[in-house]
Amino acid sequence: MGILEWATSPWGQRVPIHIAWFLIWVSLIAGLLFLIGHAIYVRYFVKEKEFAGTVSPELLSRLPKQIPRHSLAARLFHWIMAAAMFVLLFTAFLPKVGVQFNWVTYHWIAGVVLTASILFHIIHASFFLDFWSIWPDKVDLEDSRKRLLRFFGKPASLPRRSGKYPLDNKMYHAVIVLCGLAVVLTGVFMMFRVRTGILPRNPYLFSDMTWGLMYVLHGLAGVGLIALVIVHVYFAVRPEKLPITYAMIFGSMSREFYLQEYDPERWVLEAPDTVSRKRRGFLDAN
Ligand code: HEM
Repeated sequence: MGILEWATSPWGQRVPIHIAWFLIWVSLIAGLLFLIGHAIYVRYFVKEKEFAGTVSPELLSRLPKQIPRHSLAARLFHWIMAAAMFVLLFTAFLPKVGVQFNWVTYHWIAGVVLTASILFHIIHASFFLDFWSIWPDKVDLEDSRKRLLRFFGKPASLPRRSGKYPLDNKMYHAVIVLCGLAVVLTGVFMMFRVRTGILPRNPYLFSDMTWGLMYVLHGLAGVGLIALVIVHVYFAVRPEKLPITYAMIFGSMSREFYLQEYDPERWVLEAPDTVSRKRRGFLDAN
């Protein structure tokens, strides 16, 4: 059994038409196995976190009680994108596992919402947020090496606390960017195959082979998103991560949690996205 389904085109060419749908179950089970494995690892193997560096009393006295983390625009983007993502996953995969309904219209409408929200996010993150805060840097790599050595009982100095986003968050974001862009770019072209009223229907835009590969890429990235979304929701509801989820709802986290998990030199509160925080009086205006 292959991972693709094939058909013969009117010209006798064998072309892929989409992925084999058993991959839905592969991704679902992989996501569930990850969370079971992770929960066991945290319960039985993780040691108490230890970090290098202390916070100066001067900085401590300047920090507000609630540390602003996500602006309203960033939170709105997150929840709109999340809603679109769930609609896309359910409309795409329920019919493939036997729940039949007229899914295509709901699917492409949610696809347009996801595409628009991602375009907004790219502009917002590039020009109004601290763009580099979500990409791995040298300190992340050095610290993960130290953490690995210490986990295996080898000598290594203590790692630093993370910046606004720890390395695992950054890696997750990079993978979801790849899958997200893949479904969005292929999905926009696939809209030419169906009657949307937005784009002219034109199934002859590409050759059968190109269309087939496009459906395959859309499907592969789509099933990948099943596992990625499961993992994301799992981390969001883990007890030790709840303050981060709280910040995605209400915008801020407690000073205690900030000091416990983050390095104020790496997540500097006067980052470019703090204009509105300054306006609201969270930070010194200097
Ligand atoms: C979580 C994200 C997404 C997932 C999991 C997903 C999954 C899928 C799957 C499995 C199919 C069936 C393809 C096939 O039969 O081979 C499909 C079809 C389709 N998708 Fe998506 N998709 C996603 C995002 C998008 C986006 C962002 C758009 C538009 C911008 C889009 C537009 C379409 C269209 C128009 C079809 C119908 C094609 C047809 O029936 O010929 N999808 N999607």
